[in-house]
Amino acid sequence: MAPFLRILGIETSCDETAAAVVERAADGVPTVRSDVVLSQLEEHSAYGGVVPEIAARAHVEALDTLIDEALKRANVSLSEIDAIAATSGPGLIGGLLVGLMTGKAIAKASGKPLYAVNHLEGHALTARLTDGLSFPYLMLLVSGGHTQLILVRGVGDYERWGTTIDDALGEAFDKTAKLLSLPYPGGPAVERAAKSGNPERFKFPRPLVGEAKLNFSFSGLKTAVRQAATEIAPLSDQDVADICASFQNAVSRTLKDRIGRGLERFKTLFPDVAQPALVVAGGVAANLEVRGTLQALCDKNRFRFVAPPLHLCTDNAVMIAWAGLERMATGVLPDELDVQPRSRWPLDSNAEALLGFGKRGAKA
Ligand code: KG4
Ligand code: ZN
Repeated sequence: MAPFLRILGIETSCDETAAAVVERAADGVPTVRSDVVLSQLEEHSAYGGVVPEIAARAHVEALDTLIDEALKRANVSLSEIDAIAATSGPGLIGGLLVGLMTGKAIAKASGKPLYAVNHLEGHALTARLTDGLSFPYLMLLVSGGHTQLILVRGVGDYERWGTTIDDALGEAFDKTAKLLSLPYPGGPAVERAAKSGNPERFKFPRPLVGEAKLNFSFSGLKTAVRQAATEIAPLSDQDVADICASFQNAVSRTLKDRIGRGLERFKTLFPDVAQPALVVAGGVAANLEVRGTLQALCDKNRFRFVAPPLHLCTDNAVMIAWAGLERMATGVLPDELDVQPRSRWPLDSNAEALLGFGKRGAKA
């Protein structure tokens, strides 16, 4: 067996263009040789959200240079790469086409195998790269496009325990910010404003709290924020701060209930796992209140709380490369070059389709 496998990863599913070179030694130890990410934040900020056409065009313009840069920083040539891994879903179809076509072209020209990677699998397996986690564990993905609680049982073996039935959590932060005329992206702006706010001033709803199914719902919360803001308009800075703090408070309590039940279920199903773990991923994982809530919940339930470094929590190509490596190492065959991108692609093929899934281009 080769001492290690080396792969080129490509990510273009939303508004980050990314390329990376990652290695996996025979004993599973990873080495990130390069990690290049170009965010399109500026291109989209004027519109208060990701515009798919602008995103696809920006990927076309940047990707070739980024791949060159990733190879250069890794100090390797294409001939020294064992395979290509490109995100092929879920996400915005224009961007996926750009990344997957580029991956296919490189695979064809170099004669290397291609792995068409599920973006969610990239998020799900990152904690094995960063923290060497062993299966099974729980993963909470909270980003602009997804809010999912997933049981990660093995490579390619996932069970979705909960998802949002309407807005993703990041989307709820973004919409709340927009309502309050705070800048995009909304999450950091809401968190900043909340610091000087009163979390108890507004009693916002905590949707689905108490339900046995582990789904999430955030659109009612957004509506309640709109109503509160309209009632007390014009808003002072203190009003905005109080709304943001009360919003975050409702989010935390909702997560506490939903994820708390998830931890209980995990313990019941896997009583022999000595050190169960909850991994968090996605941009909302940057939020200190959300992190604090999850950390406290894990402490209470004797779970290890794993929050990979933020640049590996948000969209990147290292996780796509790593998912490709994990598949290779498990003996999964590469994909044919006629593989197609999929804007919707649930990790768990048995999961029932719910209303909110993929609403915003299924961006994760
Ligand atoms: O994972 P991510 O970078 O991109 C995708 O959604 O693909 O997540 C972005 C989302 C946005 O909705 C943004 O508002 C949210 O993560 N976010 C935050 C914070 N930082 C980013 N939400 C709450 N608090 C934050 N500090
Ligand atoms: Zn993502």
